[in-house]
Amino acid sequence: MFVKKLSLTNFRNYTRENFEFSNGLNIIVGENAQGKTNVAEAVFLLATGYSPKVKRDKQVIRYGENYCDIFAEAQTNFGTVTSKIEYFADKNKKITVNGQEAKKVSELLGNLFAVFFNPGELKLVQESPEDRRRFLDISISQLNKQYFSALNYYKKILLQRNNLLKDSDREMVYDTLPVWDEQLALYASEIVLARKNYVEKLNPLADDAHQYITDNKESLQVSLTTKYPDTKEEICQFIKDNLLSNMEKDVVLGYTSFGPHRDDLKITVSGEDVRNYGSQGQQRTAAISLKLAELQIYKQHFGEYPVLILDDAMSELDLNRQKRLLSSVKGIQTIVTCTHIDDKVFDLNNCKIFKISGGKIVE
Ligand SMILES: Nc1ncnc2c1ncn2[C@@H]1O[C@H](COP(=O)(O)OP(=O)(O)OP(=O)(O)O)[C@@H](O)[C@H]1O
Ligand SMILES: [Mg+2]
Repeated sequence: MFVKKLSLTNFRNYTRENFEFSNGLNIIVGENAQGKTNVAEAVFLLATGYSPKVKRDKQVIRYGENYCDIFAEAQTNFGTVTSKIEYFADKNKKITVNGQEAKKVSELLGNLFAVFFNPGELKLVQESPEDRRRFLDISISQLNKQYFSALNYYKKILLQRNNLLKDSDREMVYDTLPVWDEQLALYASEIVLARKNYVEKLNPLADDAHQYITDNKESLQVSLTTKYPDTKEEICQFIKDNLLSNMEKDVVLGYTSFGPHRDDLKITVSGEDVRNYGSQGQQRTAAISLKLAELQIYKQHFGEYPVLILDDAMSELDLNRQKRLLSSVKGIQTIVTCTHIDDKVFDLNNCKIFKISGGKIVE
């Protein structure tokens, strides 16, 4: 699929701007702080309702305004789709999917698909397990809405279980926990099974991408750190057993120490833990390769590629890696942001360039 049009009204540093993208490579170029990432962010928001930059919805509204909207029209194998989000200073945002008002953010999922890389995504290989779980959760949710709802139920029950663990009436706690644990294990097993299946698909595809970008100099491996059994029933039992055996510890800690909310991904480059041993270029290549694998999984699942957004992905990559990265995404609509265009990297005959300055397209 590809995004044909993007309109921004009072979104961040944009007053009003329309982008007409090509279905191939689109380059958003400009100096620092001109609004390149804001464009990338808008597309990703329209695809997922989520942005790593947004803490409070209202912060996307242009300073001094009280309303903002972003709109995208995309071409898919099934025809044209549209997504729109309106943000208000004094009330909740309104989402419209294909002209119909959506009741939940999740209705955006499954309409426009995007895979997003920006330097913040390096957290995926550098920082805490939470960032890797978020990667899995967002990627899987875009494929599988049931996963998204299982995850929400799981989080709710987990919160209740954790509150219960802090209760001073220990007898009541021990009596009530098994009831929560039945429910918790059920949703947990759904989450774990989906993550296991996803990582099994992700691993060889990420390795392919990484090997390609590095011209076979490096390989990449990803796996879940917790070893779970195979079937959903076995996983459910395994989680129940672990909740039970950790119960006393959990009561002391005041939180639930076992479950998918504690799982992590192990990521190694040529056998070494990339988080502790990888160079900056290796970490960046690994994070990008995971994103490219995500792209392939969408293709397998839906029969077409999502939109790829590479925000400031090229810096720190050597010339060969930059070139190989771009050649690996030929045929996929890609929106790249950068501060300057290097004609040794980009094929200028086959791309559409948007020069951005102060929240405006200037060329
Ligand atoms: N709500 C807002 N209203 C007005 N301006 C905003 C708002 N939110 C962010 N901005 C401004 O948008 C500007 C551009 O941000 P953006 O992150 O898109 O820059 P960029 O072109 O990607 O820069 P860099 O090359 O440094 O990554 C920032 O300087 C910021 O001050
Ligand atoms: Mg930026």
